[in-house]
Amino acid sequence: MSRPWAARLYRGPRRLLERALGPARVERWAERVPYKHLTYCLVTWTTRVPEEVERKLQTSGFLLRDGTAPDIDALEGERLYDDCATYRAWLAEGQQLLVAEEAGRVVSYVWLDLARSIALENLPEYQVEIGPGAAYGHEAWTLPSHRGRSLRRLTYVAEVLAARRAGKQWLVAYQLKEETLDAMLVNLARTGIPRGDVIDVVHVVQGGGFRVTWHQRPSRPHEAARFVSTSRRR
Ligand SMILES: CC(C)(COP(=O)(O)OP(=O)(O)OC[C@H]1O[C@@H](n2cnc3c(N)ncnc32)[C@H](O)[C@@H]1OP(=O)(O)O)[C@@H](O)C(=O)NCCC(=O)NCCS
Repeated sequence: MSRPWAARLYRGPRRLLERALGPARVERWAERVPYKHLTYCLVTWTTRVPEEVERKLQTSGFLLRDGTAPDIDALEGERLYDDCATYRAWLAEGQQLLVAEEAGRVVSYVWLDLARSIALENLPEYQVEIGPGAAYGHEAWTLPSHRGRSLRRLTYVAEVLAARRAGKQWLVAYQLKEETLDAMLVNLARTGIPRGDVIDVVHVVQGGGFRVTWHQRPSRPHEAARFVSTSRRR
């Protein structure tokens, strides 16, 4: 549960320490105590794709296309991000599956969701509200045997183009800063589509049965998306 007073109790002293000792030292110190400070970031990219980027899809050697129910059946037994039952449910509710195929086998995929409100499994205190001009991309996965062959960059371009076909100006995703946020931004910018921007941030501090969340609101909300509290009390 979120407790704004507890968040203030944590943030105030932490900021003072950061000013006195420097953020890097405080971060090193924080790593040694038994709690975690997680930073959830919303990221957005423009769907204005340079023509030469689009052309790369045609010459990649992989077939990029919409995924179907038989694709999900064929993925059964592969090592996947989630299970096929979940994927069938997503397809049934209208989410779009985008796949990269090689020699008749789906080797990488990503999901595009046009819903306006996205629930977050690991962050139940917030949901993502998606603006009318944006689409939400999630669950990018490349089969472990095929990683490092640009497949994610290709499915990302396909994802951006699918969002554009749906009339959207923005593609939105969310990622933990501590995981691979920077690696993701750098890698996806290698396609030639401008690097994504972090547009909204939620912090979570947890440990020993204690969990505090707070929303580090941007100075100006972005039209593409924002975190919204799921609790009326905040
Ligand atoms: C992340 C992932 C989709 C990348 O797939 P891939 O087809 O190997 O990606 P590419 O070949 O296009 O690019 C490889 C680069 O992706 C970078 N990368 C790491 N995390 C990434 C991410 N979340 N999104 C995009 N690129 C990422 C790596 O740093 C690597 O860089 P390098 O080539 O300099 O070593 C794949 O490793 C995977 O399925 N991981 C598990 C699921 C996951 O973390 N999904 C992303 C979060 S939704």
